[in-house]
Amino acid sequence: VLINSIPLREAKDSSAIENIVTTNDKLFRFANIGPEHADPATREILRYRTALHNGFNNLKNRPLTVQTAITICRTIKNYDLDVRSIPGTTLENKATGEVIYTPPEGADLIRNKLSNWERFLHDETAIDPIVRMAVAHYQFEAIHPFPDGNGRTGRVLNILYLIDKQLLDLPILYLSQYINAHRDTYYKLLRGVTASAAWEPWVIFMLDAVENTAKWTTEKISAIEALMEEAARHIKEAHPIVYSHELIQLLFTQPYCRVTDLVKHDVASRNTASRYLRELADNGVLEQKKEGREILYINTRFLDLLKSDKHAFPQYPAVNAKTPAKQGTSTP
Ligand SMILES: Nc1ncnc2c1ncn2[C@@H]1O[C@H](COP(=O)(O)OP(=O)(O)OP(=O)(O)O)[C@@H](O)[C@H]1O
Ligand SMILES: [Mg+2]
Repeated sequence: VLINSIPLREAKDSSAIENIVTTNDKLFRFANIGPEHADPATREILRYRTALHNGFNNLKNRPLTVQTAITICRTIKNYDLDVRSIPGTTLENKATGEVIYTPPEGADLIRNKLSNWERFLHDETAIDPIVRMAVAHYQFEAIHPFPDGNGRTGRVLNILYLIDKQLLDLPILYLSQYINAHRDTYYKLLRGVTASAAWEPWVIFMLDAVENTAKWTTEKISAIEALMEEAARHIKEAHPIVYSHELIQLLFTQPYCRVTDLVKHDVASRNTASRYLRELADNGVLEQKKEGREILYINTRFLDLLKSDKHAFPQYPAVNAKTPAKQGTSTP
Protein backbone atom coordinates (compact mmCIF):
# COMPACT_ATOMS: atom_id res chain seq x y z
CA VAL A 1 0.00 0.00 0.00
CA LEU A 2 2.67 2.52 1.03
CA ILE A 3 5.14 1.75 -1.68
CA ASN A 4 2.46 2.40 -4.26
CA SER A 5 1.31 5.70 -2.87
CA ILE A 6 3.97 7.76 -1.07
CA PRO A 7 6.53 7.59 -3.94
CA LEU A 8 3.91 9.19 -6.18
CA ARG A 9 3.82 12.25 -3.93
CA GLU A 10 7.63 12.29 -3.88
CA ALA A 11 7.73 12.01 -7.68
CA LYS A 12 5.26 14.86 -8.06
CA ASP A 13 7.11 17.32 -5.83
CA SER A 14 10.57 16.43 -7.03
CA SER A 15 9.44 17.01 -10.60
CA ALA A 16 7.66 20.23 -9.62
CA ILE A 17 11.05 21.62 -8.59
CA GLU A 18 11.88 21.39 -12.29
CA ASN A 19 8.43 22.90 -13.19
CA ILE A 20 7.14 19.59 -14.49
CA VAL A 21 3.65 19.70 -13.13
CA THR A 22 0.59 17.49 -13.03
CA THR A 23 -2.40 17.19 -10.73
CA ASN A 24 -2.62 14.60 -7.99
CA ASP A 25 -5.78 13.30 -9.64
CA LYS A 26 -4.10 12.63 -12.95
CA LEU A 27 -1.05 11.18 -11.28
CA PHE A 28 -2.89 8.63 -9.16
CA ARG A 29 -5.30 7.81 -11.96
CA PHE A 30 -2.67 7.16 -14.59
CA ALA A 31 -0.45 5.34 -12.10
CA ASN A 32 -3.23 2.77 -11.84
CA ILE A 33 -4.80 2.89 -15.21
CA GLY A 34 -3.29 3.36 -18.68
CA PRO A 35 -0.09 5.38 -18.03
CA GLU A 36 0.49 5.31 -21.80
CA HIS A 37 -2.54 7.60 -22.21
CA ALA A 38 -1.18 10.24 -19.83
CA ASP A 39 0.12 13.63 -20.95
CA PRO A 40 3.92 14.01 -21.27
CA ALA A 41 4.39 15.73 -17.88
CA THR A 42 2.46 13.05 -16.02
CA ARG A 43 4.41 10.33 -17.83
CA GLU A 44 7.69 11.98 -16.89
CA ILE A 45 6.61 12.13 -13.25
CA LEU A 46 5.56 8.47 -13.33
CA ARG A 47 9.03 7.64 -14.64
CA TYR A 48 10.53 9.28 -11.54
CA ARG A 49 8.45 6.86 -9.48
CA THR A 50 9.69 3.98 -11.63
CA ALA A 51 13.30 5.12 -11.17
CA LEU A 52 12.80 5.13 -7.40
CA HIS A 53 11.23 1.65 -7.42
CA ASN A 54 13.86 0.13 -9.70
CA GLY A 55 16.65 1.73 -7.72
CA PHE A 56 15.18 0.30 -4.54
CA ASN A 57 14.95 -3.19 -6.03
CA ASN A 58 18.50 -3.03 -7.36
CA LEU A 59 19.83 -2.11 -3.92
CA LYS A 60 18.96 -5.65 -2.82
CA ASN A 61 21.81 -6.90 -5.05
CA ARG A 62 24.41 -4.14 -5.04
CA PRO A 63 25.21 -0.90 -3.21
CA LEU A 64 24.72 2.57 -4.60
CA THR A 65 27.22 3.33 -7.38
CA VAL A 66 27.81 5.71 -10.28
CA GLN A 67 25.98 3.19 -12.45
CA THR A 68 22.91 3.55 -10.20
CA ALA A 69 22.91 7.28 -10.93
CA ILE A 70 23.15 6.70 -14.69
CA THR A 71 20.32 4.17 -14.60
CA ILE A 72 18.09 6.52 -12.60
CA CYS A 73 18.67 9.42 -14.96
CA ARG A 74 18.04 7.22 -18.01
CA THR A 75 14.74 6.07 -16.55
CA ILE A 76 13.61 9.60 -15.73
CA LYS A 77 14.65 11.10 -19.06
CA ASN A 78 13.62 7.98 -21.01
CA TYR A 79 16.68 7.75 -23.26
CA ASP A 80 20.13 6.21 -23.01
CA LEU A 81 22.01 9.29 -21.90
CA ASP A 82 25.51 9.23 -20.45
CA VAL A 83 27.72 11.71 -18.61
CA ARG A 84 28.05 15.06 -20.40
CA SER A 85 30.66 15.07 -23.13
CA ILE A 86 29.87 18.36 -24.84
CA PRO A 87 30.81 21.61 -23.09
CA GLY A 88 28.47 24.52 -22.52
CA THR A 89 26.20 23.40 -19.69
CA THR A 90 25.51 26.20 -17.22
CA LEU A 91 23.00 26.72 -14.43
CA GLU A 92 21.16 29.93 -15.00
CA ASN A 93 18.73 32.11 -13.15
CA LYS A 94 15.59 31.48 -15.24
CA ALA A 95 14.29 35.02 -14.78
CA THR A 96 17.45 37.02 -15.52
CA GLY A 97 19.51 34.57 -17.59
CA GLU A 98 22.45 35.24 -15.25
CA VAL A 99 24.83 32.28 -15.02
CA ILE A 100 24.75 30.97 -11.46
CA TYR A 101 27.09 28.05 -11.76
CA THR A 102 29.23 26.35 -14.39
CA PRO A 103 29.80 22.66 -13.69
CA PRO A 104 33.01 20.83 -14.67
CA GLU A 105 33.44 19.88 -18.32
CA GLY A 106 34.80 16.81 -20.07
CA ALA A 107 33.59 13.23 -19.70
CA ASP A 108 36.83 12.01 -18.10
CA LEU A 109 36.88 14.73 -15.47
CA ILE A 110 33.22 14.14 -14.70
CA ARG A 111 33.78 10.38 -14.35
CA ASN A 112 36.69 11.05 -12.01
CA LYS A 113 34.60 13.29 -9.84
CA LEU A 114 31.78 10.74 -9.81
CA SER A 115 34.17 8.03 -8.62
CA ASN A 116 35.19 10.37 -5.84
CA TRP A 117 31.52 10.91 -4.99
CA GLU A 118 30.95 7.13 -4.92
CA ARG A 119 33.95 6.61 -2.64
CA PHE A 120 32.70 9.29 -0.27
CA LEU A 121 29.29 7.58 -0.06
CA HIS A 122 30.85 4.37 1.26
CA ASP A 123 33.84 5.76 3.18
CA GLU A 124 34.47 4.21 6.58
CA THR A 125 34.66 7.52 8.43
CA ALA A 126 32.55 8.55 11.37
CA ILE A 127 30.31 11.01 9.53
CA ASP A 128 26.62 10.38 10.22
CA PRO A 129 24.89 9.00 7.11
CA ILE A 130 22.33 11.82 7.00
CA VAL A 131 25.07 14.44 7.09
CA ARG A 132 26.88 12.41 4.47
CA MET A 133 23.73 12.37 2.34
CA ALA A 134 23.60 16.17 2.50
CA VAL A 135 27.25 16.57 1.54
CA ALA A 136 26.99 13.98 -1.23
CA HIS A 137 23.87 15.65 -2.62
CA TYR A 138 25.72 18.93 -2.98
CA GLN A 139 28.68 17.07 -4.47
CA PHE A 140 26.47 15.32 -7.00
CA GLU A 141 24.64 18.50 -8.01
CA ALA A 142 27.90 20.40 -8.33
CA ILE A 143 29.31 17.71 -10.64
CA HIS A 144 26.04 17.93 -12.56
CA PRO A 145 27.04 14.86 -14.57
CA PHE A 146 24.15 14.67 -17.03
CA PRO A 147 22.76 16.96 -19.72
CA ASP A 148 19.46 17.17 -17.77
CA GLY A 149 17.67 15.53 -14.86
CA ASN A 150 20.49 16.03 -12.35
CA GLY A 151 18.26 17.50 -9.64
CA ARG A 152 15.73 14.69 -9.79
CA THR A 153 18.39 11.98 -10.08
CA GLY A 154 20.14 13.48 -7.05
CA ARG A 155 16.93 13.46 -5.05
CA VAL A 156 16.19 9.82 -5.91
CA LEU A 157 19.76 9.03 -4.82
CA ASN A 158 19.15 10.74 -1.45
CA ILE A 159 16.37 8.33 -0.60
CA LEU A 160 18.20 5.28 -1.93
CA TYR A 161 21.24 6.25 0.10
CA LEU A 162 19.26 6.24 3.35
CA ILE A 163 18.00 2.78 2.39
CA ASP A 164 21.50 1.62 1.52
CA LYS A 165 22.69 2.78 4.93
CA GLN A 166 19.73 1.04 6.58
CA LEU A 167 18.11 4.16 7.96
CA LEU A 168 15.03 3.49 5.89
CA ASP A 169 13.39 0.19 4.90
CA LEU A 170 11.26 1.39 2.02
CA PRO A 171 11.50 4.30 -0.43
CA ILE A 172 8.74 6.17 1.33
CA LEU A 173 10.41 9.23 2.80
CA TYR A 174 8.80 12.19 1.08
CA LEU A 175 11.88 14.44 1.10
CA SER A 176 11.03 16.52 -1.94
CA GLN A 177 7.97 17.92 -0.21
CA TYR A 178 10.23 20.01 2.02
CA ILE A 179 12.71 20.84 -0.72
CA ASN A 180 9.93 21.99 -3.05
CA ALA A 181 8.31 24.06 -0.31
CA HIS A 182 11.68 25.75 0.28
CA ARG A 183 12.96 25.68 -3.26
CA ASP A 184 14.53 29.14 -3.23
CA THR A 185 16.44 28.32 -0.05
CA TYR A 186 17.53 25.00 -1.53
CA TYR A 187 18.99 26.76 -4.56
CA LYS A 188 20.47 29.58 -2.49
CA LEU A 189 22.21 27.18 -0.09
CA LEU A 190 23.64 25.01 -2.88
CA ARG A 191 25.08 28.17 -4.32
CA GLY A 192 26.42 29.20 -0.93
CA VAL A 193 28.53 26.06 -0.69
CA THR A 194 30.16 26.81 -4.06
CA ALA A 195 30.56 30.53 -3.47
CA SER A 196 31.74 30.58 0.14
CA ALA A 197 32.02 26.97 1.39
CA ALA A 198 28.91 27.57 3.52
CA TRP A 199 28.48 23.91 4.41
CA GLU A 200 26.83 24.34 7.77
CA PRO A 201 23.56 26.03 6.68
CA TRP A 202 23.32 23.56 3.79
CA VAL A 203 23.72 20.50 6.00
CA ILE A 204 21.28 21.91 8.56
CA PHE A 205 18.75 22.55 5.81
CA MET A 206 18.93 18.93 4.70
CA LEU A 207 18.71 17.68 8.31
CA ASP A 208 15.58 19.82 8.76
CA ALA A 209 14.23 18.35 5.53
CA VAL A 210 14.74 14.81 6.82
CA GLU A 211 13.25 15.58 10.23
CA ASN A 212 10.21 17.36 8.81
CA THR A 213 9.39 14.84 6.15
CA ALA A 214 10.03 11.88 8.46
CA LYS A 215 7.42 13.28 10.85
CA TRP A 216 4.98 14.10 8.08
CA THR A 217 5.36 10.70 6.44
CA THR A 218 4.94 8.87 9.76
CA GLU A 219 1.71 10.77 10.42
CA LYS A 220 0.49 10.03 6.92
CA ILE A 221 1.23 6.33 7.32
CA SER A 222 -0.65 6.19 10.65
CA ALA A 223 -3.62 7.90 9.01
CA ILE A 224 -3.55 5.43 6.12
CA GLU A 225 -3.48 2.53 8.57
CA ALA A 226 -6.38 4.00 10.52
CA LEU A 227 -8.41 4.53 7.36
CA MET A 228 -7.75 0.96 6.21
CA GLU A 229 -8.92 -0.37 9.56
CA GLU A 230 -12.03 1.80 9.38
CA ALA A 231 -12.75 0.63 5.85
CA ALA A 232 -12.32 -3.03 6.80
CA ARG A 233 -14.54 -2.61 9.85
CA HIS A 234 -17.22 -0.79 7.88
CA ILE A 235 -17.28 -3.19 4.94
CA LYS A 236 -17.31 -6.22 7.25
CA GLU A 237 -20.26 -4.78 9.10
CA ALA A 238 -22.30 -3.25 6.29
CA HIS A 239 -21.32 -5.52 3.40
CA PRO A 240 -20.22 -8.80 4.97
CA ILE A 241 -20.48 -10.80 1.76
CA VAL A 242 -18.38 -8.31 -0.15
CA TYR A 243 -15.66 -8.16 2.49
CA SER A 244 -12.35 -9.90 2.04
CA HIS A 245 -8.86 -9.01 3.18
CA GLU A 246 -7.69 -9.14 -0.44
CA LEU A 247 -10.34 -6.67 -1.56
CA ILE A 248 -9.31 -4.13 1.10
CA GLN A 249 -5.66 -4.54 0.10
CA LEU A 250 -6.53 -3.95 -3.53
CA LEU A 251 -8.67 -0.86 -2.89
CA PHE A 252 -5.75 0.62 -0.98
CA THR A 253 -3.08 -0.33 -3.47
CA GLN A 254 -5.08 0.89 -6.38
CA PRO A 255 -7.45 3.70 -5.43
CA TYR A 256 -8.71 3.68 -9.02
CA CYS A 257 -10.14 0.22 -9.50
CA ARG A 258 -12.01 -1.64 -12.23
CA VAL A 259 -13.88 -4.93 -12.32
CA THR A 260 -10.99 -6.43 -14.28
CA ASP A 261 -8.58 -5.54 -11.45
CA LEU A 262 -10.58 -7.63 -8.99
CA VAL A 263 -10.59 -10.52 -11.44
CA LYS A 264 -6.88 -10.13 -12.12
CA HIS A 265 -6.07 -10.22 -8.40
CA ASP A 266 -8.31 -13.25 -7.77
CA VAL A 267 -10.64 -11.32 -5.50
CA ALA A 268 -13.74 -12.49 -7.36
CA SER A 269 -15.06 -13.69 -10.70
CA ARG A 270 -16.23 -11.13 -13.20
CA ASN A 271 -19.94 -11.07 -12.33
CA THR A 272 -19.36 -11.19 -8.62
CA ALA A 273 -16.70 -8.50 -8.80
CA SER A 274 -18.99 -6.21 -10.70
CA ARG A 275 -21.77 -6.81 -8.16
CA TYR A 276 -19.39 -6.10 -5.25
CA LEU A 277 -18.07 -2.86 -6.65
CA ARG A 278 -21.55 -1.64 -7.52
CA GLU A 279 -22.75 -2.37 -4.01
CA LEU A 280 -19.84 -0.41 -2.51
CA ALA A 281 -20.46 2.48 -4.89
CA ASP A 282 -24.23 2.51 -4.21
CA ASN A 283 -23.52 2.79 -0.51
CA GLY A 284 -20.96 5.56 -0.50
CA VAL A 285 -17.86 3.47 0.12
CA LEU A 286 -16.49 4.01 -3.38
CA GLU A 287 -17.30 6.56 -6.04
CA GLN A 288 -18.26 5.45 -9.50
CA LYS A 289 -17.11 7.23 -12.65
CA LYS A 290 -17.72 6.32 -16.27
CA GLU A 291 -14.60 6.55 -18.36
CA GLY A 292 -15.21 5.69 -22.00
CA ARG A 293 -16.56 2.16 -22.00
CA GLU A 294 -15.21 1.39 -18.56
CA ILE A 295 -16.41 2.13 -15.08
CA LEU A 296 -13.83 3.27 -12.57
CA TYR A 297 -14.50 2.72 -8.89
CA ILE A 298 -12.64 5.25 -6.83
CA ASN A 299 -11.61 4.90 -3.21
CA THR A 300 -12.07 8.64 -2.68
CA ARG A 301 -11.45 8.70 1.06
CA PHE A 302 -8.06 7.13 0.49
CA LEU A 303 -7.30 9.26 -2.56
CA ASP A 304 -8.15 12.47 -0.71
CA LEU A 305 -5.99 11.38 2.20
CA LEU A 306 -3.05 10.72 -0.14
CA LYS A 307 -3.47 14.01 -1.94
CA SER A 308 -3.87 16.13 1.15
CA ASP A 309 -1.05 17.61 3.18
CA LYS A 310 -3.27 17.02 6.23
CA HIS A 311 -4.07 13.60 7.66
CA ALA A 312 -7.80 13.69 8.48
CA PHE A 313 -10.43 11.65 6.65
CA PRO A 314 -14.25 11.51 6.70
CA GLN A 315 -16.05 8.67 8.46
CA TYR A 316 -17.97 5.95 6.70
CA PRO A 317 -21.79 6.14 6.74
CA ALA A 318 -23.38 4.73 9.89
CA VAL A 319 -24.62 1.18 9.47
CA ASN A 320 -28.39 1.04 9.78
CA ALA A 321 -29.51 -2.48 10.67
CA LYS A 322 -32.97 -1.86 9.23
CA THR A 323 -31.79 -1.03 5.71
CA PRO A 324 -32.91 -3.89 3.49
CA ALA A 325 -30.29 -5.54 1.32
CA LYS A 326 -30.16 -3.96 -2.12
CA GLN A 327 -31.32 -5.83 -5.17
CA GLY A 328 -28.68 -7.98 -6.69
CA THR A 329 -26.63 -8.17 -3.52
CA SER A 330 -28.15 -11.34 -2.12
CA THR A 331 -26.02 -14.31 -1.20
CA PRO A 332 -24.06 -15.86 -4.07
N1 LIG B 1 24.19 26.62 -7.55
C1 LIG B 1 24.01 25.32 -7.73
N2 LIG B 1 25.05 24.47 -7.65
C2 LIG B 1 24.90 23.16 -7.83
N3 LIG B 1 23.72 22.59 -8.12
C3 LIG B 1 22.65 23.36 -8.21
C4 LIG B 1 22.73 24.76 -8.02
N4 LIG B 1 21.50 25.26 -8.17
C5 LIG B 1 20.70 24.23 -8.43
N5 LIG B 1 21.38 23.08 -8.47
C6 LIG B 1 20.86 21.71 -8.72
O1 LIG B 1 20.60 21.55 -10.09
C7 LIG B 1 19.31 21.00 -10.28
C8 LIG B 1 18.77 21.35 -11.66
O2 LIG B 1 19.51 20.63 -12.64
P1 LIG B 1 18.85 19.85 -13.88
O3 LIG B 1 17.98 20.78 -14.66
O4 LIG B 1 19.89 19.07 -14.58
O5 LIG B 1 17.99 18.81 -13.10
P2 LIG B 1 16.45 18.47 -13.32
O6 LIG B 1 16.12 17.23 -12.58
O7 LIG B 1 16.11 18.54 -14.78
O8 LIG B 1 15.80 19.72 -12.62
P3 LIG B 1 15.27 19.90 -11.17
O9 LIG B 1 16.33 19.53 -10.23
O10 LIG B 1 14.96 21.36 -11.09
O11 LIG B 1 14.10 19.01 -11.04
C9 LIG B 1 18.53 21.56 -9.10
O12 LIG B 1 17.38 20.85 -8.75
C10 LIG B 1 19.55 21.49 -8.00
O13 LIG B 1 19.59 20.19 -7.43
MG1 LIG C 1 16.12 20.19 -16.05
